[in-house]
Amino acid sequence: MLEKTPDQAKLEHARMLIDGKWTQSASGAVLPVLNPANRRQIADIPRGGAEDVELAVKAAAKAFPAWSRVPPRERGRIMLRIADALEARVEELARIIALETGNALRTQARPEAKNTADIFRYFGGLGGELKGETIPFGEHVLSYTRREPLGVVGAIIPWNAPVLLGALKIAPALVAGNTLVMKAAEDAPLGVLMMAQVCQEFLPPGVLNVLTGLGEECGGPLAQHPTVRKLSFTGSTEVGKIIMHAAADRIVPVSLELGGKSPSIVYPDADEDWVVDGIIAAMRFTRQSQSCTAGSRMFLHADIFDSFLDKLTTKVQALKLGDPLDEATDIGAIINEKQFTKVCGYVQEGLQRKDARLVFGGLPPKEGKLSEGYFAVPTVFADKSNDWRLAREEIFGPVLVAIPWRDEAEAIRMANDSHYGLAAYVWTHDIGSALRTAHAIESGWVQVNQGLGQSPGHSYGGYKQSGIGREFSLEGMLDSFTQRKNVTVNLTTPRAG
Ligand code: NAI
Ligand code: MG
Repeated sequence: MLEKTPDQAKLEHARMLIDGKWTQSASGAVLPVLNPANRRQIADIPRGGAEDVELAVKAAAKAFPAWSRVPPRERGRIMLRIADALEARVEELARIIALETGNALRTQARPEAKNTADIFRYFGGLGGELKGETIPFGEHVLSYTRREPLGVVGAIIPWNAPVLLGALKIAPALVAGNTLVMKAAEDAPLGVLMMAQVCQEFLPPGVLNVLTGLGEECGGPLAQHPTVRKLSFTGSTEVGKIIMHAAADRIVPVSLELGGKSPSIVYPDADEDWVVDGIIAAMRFTRQSQSCTAGSRMFLHADIFDSFLDKLTTKVQALKLGDPLDEATDIGAIINEKQFTKVCGYVQEGLQRKDARLVFGGLPPKEGKLSEGYFAVPTVFADKSNDWRLAREEIFGPVLVAIPWRDEAEAIRMANDSHYGLAAYVWTHDIGSALRTAHAIESGWVQVNQGLGQSPGHSYGGYKQSGIGREFSLEGMLDSFTQRKNVTVNLTTPRAG
């Protein structure tokens, strides 16, 4: 039986968007979408495959010439209209996100819906910035550059902030004059389809196409399609490598926003409540820590180790786990069985490790209301080592490791001893230490004394295996979704006749 809410009933048998039409998969096959808070089915979605990819890419290629000739500021104006229309439906969108992702409405899903409208608004204002340069070769030559779109963009997105991450590809790609085929994540496609519905009210057919289906079966053919001129992927580092191989085969540009194991370095002068709040925010506990920027390795100065962990224990234990749709809930559910099992596996390993001390948390409840869903309990392990699996691998769940340090250089060395380099957090009153450390850390984004999420305008992306390219910003749009052409004109040709 499908579980219905008034907002959501119409998505019960969701359809994909191809060439301006809402369609079933060519094979007719469907996939279930579950509510992670109670494991009940909320909808089914088309199980798209190679044939559907073919139709969507054809539609995008057909729409490209006309769309690329719409003046950039007009394309921007369309994004502004989409922003307004999304804003008018924020609450509906937020509830769908909460229902399918398990992210709590108040702390996560509603802010995600609001931020999505902001993303369309931000990029909508940037149409006029798609400008080129003139190159001063002298009076006899006019040399200038143009920012041209790439063509059909293939985008693949994950489930953790599905609508926001989708908007971060749709808005800049379309403002820059590309057309798009996006594959939504199989676990969280409904919010993305609703966003697509809103977009489609303002867009010509084929400019935006949204497919649903599984990774290899639907994402694979999209990544390999010869007509796709650019690949933009957000998700695991493992799949990022597959996408990059597919791009290499055809020499198409690729942007990758991948995983992280981001360090938080806490100095001895920072044993304070606001820092504890910041660590909780940076760890994204209220998103079940299913965030690529989660500050999941905490390097705590040895002098404040126990006292800081005591404060952290009190504050985290005050957070309420429960029904994502309940306004009182701080922390919702993990996305699916596979991720839940994986997270529990890490907790189990921590419990068994002799050198590690469980500070709080542990395995999820086996009975009661919470056992009906994939509810993982916020958990902290203290250990001297930065070398064990829990300190090295992206857990993508609420499991934080605390590691003591004494020497600043040693803290920085441990922080950088990772194949990831997405985000980092530094906590101290001493501006010299803070900036020295911020500059020494190998990460695309370092925050000092705050643990916030990304904002439009900030060039966001990873070092090392956390990714290639930047998003969220003007430069992100220009570098990821346009190519430069230079035109050089000789002004000294003899006059005809
Ligand atoms: P994933 O990377 O497998 O999935 C992301 C997207 O890629 C989905 O739309 C999926 O259908 C698609 N995909 C999967 N395999 C593909 C393939 N062979 N070709 C083309 N597309 C493909 O992530 P998954 O399995 O959901 O989560 C596994 C781990 O990945 C998590 O535990 C976490 O560590 C990491 N992750 C990181 C994210 C981030 O934002 N950096 C987001 C989601 C997951
Ligand atoms: Mg996967």
